[in-house]
Amino acid sequence: MQVFSLFFSFLFILLVISCSDAFTRNDFPEDFLFGAATSAYQWEGAVDEDGRTPSVWDTFSHTTNLGNGDIACDGYHKYKEDVKLMAEMGLEAFRFSISWTRLIPNGRGPINPKGLLFYKNLIKELRNNGIEPHVTLYHYDLPQTFEDEYGGWINSKIIEDFTDFADVCFREFGDDVKLWTTINEATIFAISSYSEGFAPPGHCSSSTFFNCSTGNSSTEPYIAGHNMLLAHASASKLYKLKYKKKQRGSIGFSIYAFGLTPYSNSKEDEIATQRAKAFLFGWMLKPLVFGDYPDEMKRILGSRLPVFSEEESELVKGSSEFIGLIHYVTVYVKNSSPTPSLFPSRHDFFTDMGGETIFMGNSTFLEWDPIPWGLERVLEYIKQTYNNPPVYILENGKPMIHGSTLHDTPRIEYIQGYIGAVLNAIKNGSDTRGYFVWSMFDVYELLSGYMYSYGMYYVNFSDPGLKRSPKLSSSWYTGFLNGTVDVDPQAITRLESNI
Ligand SMILES: *[C@@H]1O[C@H](CO)[C@@H](O)[C@H](O)[C@H]1NC(C)=O
Ligand SMILES: *[C@@H]1O[C@H](CO)[C@@H](O)[C@H](O)[C@H]1NC(C)=O
Ligand SMILES: *[C@@H]1O[C@H](CO)[C@@H](O)[C@H](O)[C@H]1NC(C)=O
Ligand SMILES: *[C@@H]1O[C@H](CO)[C@@H](O)[C@H](O)[C@H]1NC(C)=O
Ligand SMILES: *[C@@H]1O[C@H](CO)[C@@H](O)[C@H](O)[C@H]1NC(C)=O
Ligand SMILES: *[C@@H]1O[C@H](CO)[C@@H](O)[C@H](O)[C@H]1NC(C)=O
Repeated sequence: MQVFSLFFSFLFILLVISCSDAFTRNDFPEDFLFGAATSAYQWEGAVDEDGRTPSVWDTFSHTTNLGNGDIACDGYHKYKEDVKLMAEMGLEAFRFSISWTRLIPNGRGPINPKGLLFYKNLIKELRNNGIEPHVTLYHYDLPQTFEDEYGGWINSKIIEDFTDFADVCFREFGDDVKLWTTINEATIFAISSYSEGFAPPGHCSSSTFFNCSTGNSSTEPYIAGHNMLLAHASASKLYKLKYKKKQRGSIGFSIYAFGLTPYSNSKEDEIATQRAKAFLFGWMLKPLVFGDYPDEMKRILGSRLPVFSEEESELVKGSSEFIGLIHYVTVYVKNSSPTPSLFPSRHDFFTDMGGETIFMGNSTFLEWDPIPWGLERVLEYIKQTYNNPPVYILENGKPMIHGSTLHDTPRIEYIQGYIGAVLNAIKNGSDTRGYFVWSMFDVYELLSGYMYSYGMYYVNFSDPGLKRSPKLSSSWYTGFLNGTVDVDPQAITRLESNI
């Protein structure tokens, strides 16, 4: 039944799509990469098998009531089956991350042969199916042992440990991996893990609504962010010195990129939006491109913002050969300085930014409408402000209640809108080179556990075999990638009203 109705729905999409303003895969450069993504803790499961040890995410998830990644999609055992689904889908690239503690259980020192074999096999399987691997080195899963030993990312000792981990990855996998992202969505990682406390390792200052056992929301996000930039730059330097000539890959850094637009046309909201751009983009992009933090941040944070030595500034500047963007939503920015935002009684990142972020339209925290122009403006802003660096959209997608439907038309509408935005940006000169849907499968989610999912494949987490079933979005993506689906931005609206 399901297959039958999927088939007809798909046929229907093909029929309603008209020709005006349409675009196809072929309107993008041939070497542009379309893919889908997952991350190690969210997809692999098998957390205590074959020598893997806990990361801070294992520890953190077991303190929440949102479930955990102990089993997740069991990608560790099902990777062959999953790569086959990717190949059938027509994916050109797959983004995944390497579990540090699966590869090097003590964080540093001996390599785990079984962990090494798993990633070699996965990469080989992808390559054999013509799928380009895009590897993220760090996706929220610090070895717990480093959190315990020295506090993880808030200690500069992380720089050396991260560089050594990266060295192992480049050496072992670099002949087959040409695209490396060092750190996943570093901006929101620093904010959610060290200012707000809702991501691992869950540091924050206590407030009326939410208490953390450790942390300082007014200092730690900036210290962690500083160490992320230095760890990235150190790994990047190593790659260039030791591997690049032979392996010919490129290495980038990624940030979470809200679309930002003023709440009103008041001068205050406009200035607050500029400030938000400095805090949410410039914080990491300005050092990577120009070697130092934005002036607004220096002025507002004073001695709480770490300072780059001249040598560090040179190291960081130019260390990212591309910028990875994680983009989901566009928000209004409303001036709120000097009033503290989000959690009253706490001085945190958003207090410093002096701007409240308000979801646009009918969007809520976990279910949002597509606002494609938001991404188009982000790409244009990056082009103009940061010397038009190569960009990969490393995540973009739409959450829906897990298991609600295989007929995920709102997700198709969302994805095609944003792919159109990327095309517009490219036509206006943006050097965007790839687009990855989050996510390939329904996975364990950081903020919503198994309640909301983004997958183009449904995973039945109650089924002992964790059966995967294609959603309509997967057929849509296949059709788009094989060039049989033209995309007309207005077509889905008509499709929706016809169903
Ligand atoms: C955070 O650190 C700053 C600077 O060291 C200090 O002034 C402040 O009291 C600390 N805040 C908390 C909540 O510990
Ligand atoms: C958090 O800690 C503060 C200070 O100790 C206390 O006043 C507040 O009631 C706590 N809030 C919660 C939600 O536990
Ligand atoms: C907003 O979304 C909800 C839930 O999807 C829907 O019931 C409601 O009609 C929407 N409101 C508007 C103004 O579109
Ligand atoms: C296109 O690029 C030009 C040159 O950078 C810029 O001036 C213009 O605003 C851009 N157009 C859009 C729609 O972003
Ligand atoms: C998920 O798997 C369980 C156990 O095999 C089964 O009872 C259930 O019907 C499945 N759910 C869906 C939506 O396929
Ligand atoms: C293209 O994808 C569609 C949608 O899944 C599929 O039905 C069709 O057979 C594919 N065509 C080719 C030429 O691969």
